Amino acid sequence: MKPQGLQTLIYLDGCDAKDTQEIKNELGFLDGQTTNPTLLSKNSDIRKMLDSGKKFSESELLELYKSEIQRIDSIIGGGSISVEVYADDTSTVEDLVAQGLKFSKWAKNIHVKVPATLIGLGAMNKLLNSGIQVNVTLCFSQEQGAAISALSRGFDNVYVSPFIGRLDDIGQDGMSLVENIYRMYSEQNDHHVRTLAASVRDVSQLVRAIEVGAEIVTASKKVLIEWKDRGFPLKLDQEYQRKGSPIPYQDFPLDEPLNFYNLNHELTSKGQTQFAEDWKSMIE
Ligand code: E4P
Repeated sequence: MKPQGLQTLIYLDGCDAKDTQEIKNELGFLDGQTTNPTLLSKNSDIRKMLDSGKKFSESELLELYKSEIQRIDSIIGGGSISVEVYADDTSTVEDLVAQGLKFSKWAKNIHVKVPATLIGLGAMNKLLNSGIQVNVTLCFSQEQGAAISALSRGFDNVYVSPFIGRLDDIGQDGMSLVENIYRMYSEQNDHHVRTLAASVRDVSQLVRAIEVGAEIVTASKKVLIEWKDRGFPLKLDQEYQRKGSPIPYQDFPLDEPLNFYNLNHELTSKGQTQFAEDWKSMIE
C-alpha cells in the first residue's frame, strides 16, 4: 500500500518486467516506470542474448522493446511508462516525431521521452499537438526547464526530468536543479509541466525530491527496496547532504519563443551520445 500522505508518484527506473513485478510486490504499489536505451541494454533477457554474441536488427530490437513495455504495462496496470526515442546529432524533428507516434501506441499511458535539445523540444511540441504525452529527458539546466514550460503552454501532460546524479558526478549539486525548476514553476504559478526527479542515486535523494515537491520520482530497484527497508521515510531526519556546489537560482520567463532560451548543456549532449551508442551496441 502507498505510504499515507505521499503525494509524489513513485516510478521504477529500469527496463525489465521482472524487476517491475518484484518492486510492485516489495513496495505494495508502483505508479509508473521510466526506461531508456541504456536500461534496455541491461534487460536480463536481452543481456543474455548480447553476451552470447547475438545482435539484433533495428526492427527486432524495437519488437523486443515493445514486448517489454507491454509486459511492464500489464504489471503496472495503467501507470505511465516512459519510452525513449533514438536521437543523435543527425536526427531531425520528424525522426523523433515518427518514433514517438509509434511508441505512443505500445500501451495506454506512454510518455515519449525526447532530449532537452532544440530538436527534442521541436518534437515535443508536435507530439503534444498530436495528443501524445511527453517526458523531456536529459535536463541539466533551469533554462531548459523554462523552455520546456514555455514551449508546452496549453498542455498538461508533460514531464521534465532533471538528472540529479549526473550533475553530482561533475561536482554540481544536482538536487539544486530540481529545487530551482520546482521553485521557478511555483513562483510563476504554472505547474503544467510536472517535475520528475531522475538519475536518483540514493534514498536521501529520493526523500529530498519528495520534500521539495517533485510530482514524480524515478529510482532504481536497489534504491526503492532500500527506501522500503527504511520504512518509507517521507522526510529526511537530517539536512540533505549536498554532493557538489549548489546551482544558483535564476529568473527566467516562461512565455518566450524557443530561440530566447539557451538549451546547451555539455551533459545533455554527452547523455544523448551515450544513449545512441548503447542503442547501436545492440544492433548488428
Ligand atoms: C530516467 O528517466 C533517466 O533516464 C535515468 O534516471 C538516468 O539515470 P542515470 O543517470 O543513473 O543513468
